Amino acid sequence: MSKNDLCMTDMHCHILPGVDDGSHDMEESLDMLRIARKSGIDRMILTPHYKASHHNASPDTLRKRLALLRAEAKKVGINVELALGNEVLYFSDFLEAYYAGRILTLNGTDRLLTEFHPTADYMYVRNAMDELIGAGFIPVLAHLERVECLVSVPERVFELRDIGCEMQMNAADYMGAMGRRVRRFLQELLDKEAVDYLGTDAHDRKTRTPDVRKCLGDLYERYDDEYVRSIAYMNADLIFEHVSAEESNAD
Ligand SMILES: [Fe+2]
Repeated sequence: MSKNDLCMTDMHCHILPGVDDGSHDMEESLDMLRIARKSGIDRMILTPHYKASHHNASPDTLRKRLALLRAEAKKVGINVELALGNEVLYFSDFLEAYYAGRILTLNGTDRLLTEFHPTADYMYVRNAMDELIGAGFIPVLAHLERVECLVSVPERVFELRDIGCEMQMNAADYMGAMGRRVRRFLQELLDKEAVDYLGTDAHDRKTRTPDVRKCLGDLYERYDDEYVRSIAYMNADLIFEHVSAEESNAD
């Protein structure tokens, strides 16, 4: 299969208009989608923040906003596939909120994009992951490079992977947005093929954009082609091609 037959997926972005600190309005969302397409992205999982301390848009609101964005994108000829999830800042009552129907996994799968405060204590992260895995989720650790307890002790990443977590890195952080120490941390993990997904974590059309071109070029230069394709393209297929019960009922 040639590279052109594959679909590149952005696993993490804030492009849905007006629901979090990402895109402000439909125009900005459409511009962000154009940037993503230009950089080769075919599929995006839109992952608005869910934070216990904030007002969070309900799943119903997110679905309606997604339908609007899809319709507008189609109208202006932007050919990109979109799916929905949340980026959840882990909190102690997470399960209660999830079972109450307030939080979305990635495209209706068992995978949950899970974020921690940069200064979270490792035992807190580990216990949270144990809880999520015990409840049947596969946690995908959002921008793992922003969690200091992992950057300072990279072995912990392998421990978390061993218990069943998956790892998502931000393209911009790999390119140095968080400094050289963080880039080296990611390089060390990529050397050992310990990162599972690439995401843009795009928030706007100016500074935190969904442009992965430089990152992808750099990855292909340094790492095995097959591995780069797995994190930018193939690993997300399982999530993207999942059809939730809800969607199949709607058909
Ligand atoms: Fe994010």
